[in-house]
Amino acid sequence: MASYSTTMILLSVLFSGLLYANGRAVDLVSTLTQQSQFDFFTLALQWPATFCSTHENKCCPENGCCAGEHSQSPPGFTIHGLWPDYKNGSWPSCCEGAAYDESKIAPLLDAMHKYWPILSCNDISSCNNKTNSFWADQWEQHGTCSTSVTGDQYGYFLTALELYLKYNVTEVLLQAKVKPSNSNTYPSAVLISAIENAFHAKPQLDCKNGDVIKEVRLCFTKDLQPRECVEPTSCPANVRLPKFAFLEGATKTEDWLLSAVKTVV
Ligand SMILES: *[C@@H]1O[C@H](CO)[C@@H](O)[C@H](O)[C@H]1NC(C)=O
Ligand SMILES: *[C@@H]1O[C@H](CO)[C@@H](O)[C@H](O)[C@H]1NC(C)=O
Ligand SMILES: *[C@@H]1O[C@H](CO)[C@@H](O)[C@H](O)[C@H]1NC(C)=O
Repeated sequence: MASYSTTMILLSVLFSGLLYANGRAVDLVSTLTQQSQFDFFTLALQWPATFCSTHENKCCPENGCCAGEHSQSPPGFTIHGLWPDYKNGSWPSCCEGAAYDESKIAPLLDAMHKYWPILSCNDISSCNNKTNSFWADQWEQHGTCSTSVTGDQYGYFLTALELYLKYNVTEVLLQAKVKPSNSNTYPSAVLISAIENAFHAKPQLDCKNGDVIKEVRLCFTKDLQPRECVEPTSCPANVRLPKFAFLEGATKTEDWLLSAVKTVV
């Protein structure tokens, strides 16, 4: 825990410095009136073990599922996206805004590779059907509609990273003794109440193939405080959290995760 807190402090200092230097407040004022008014944010966190289990044949240099022991990600949930949402269950997407430009987030790239790894090869953009990187697609679909709160691309990706670093779902679940397993199931209610107790807001669980956890979603007010998610869960009463098995040459599987379990429980 000690080294974890130290890391957090260092990261906060680093990020707040960057934030200030980037003048996020200025962007906020200039774009406030143009962007769609949404109600809250969803931070979607994906369980790479589930995502990677269905992407076997898609290894390319940037595919984090194929990184095996070279993966720099912490063992656990990684970021899928930060999504603006309406209370009625729909959401704004593909708003007007600057085209994705990776040079704008250069100072964040190390953190992006670690915490927001690309787990596929090329994605098809849902805004214009062009082949796009995962990050570009998240920016075009969701980031462009978030700028009234987050500011530009830099502010958007930084906001998601900051929330992810502050609200560690993996740690909360490990503490609640929900450990990855290919045989055990856990009551959804146990996962939900562990997260709710830790962050004081009800999360949303998302499953695939019936009971396999694909994502945990945390919701936030536009002031970036935890709030209840509104969408119903897609998971049954009992769920599975499969073990990691990276696609090719993966040696970083159980042992890797177990080392994290030991530091928590
Ligand atoms: C949801 O609310 C937004 C914002 O008020 C509105 O633009 C949209 O049409 C609504 N969608 C549905 C399906 O009701
Ligand atoms: C993308 O392609 C699909 C199928 O080809 C089509 O239905 C859809 O309208 C296209 N979307 C855009 C934004 O061009
Ligand atoms: C979240 O907690 C786990 C377990 O303590 C740890 O291994 C991981 O590095 C943490 N993630 C982040 C982003 O700090």
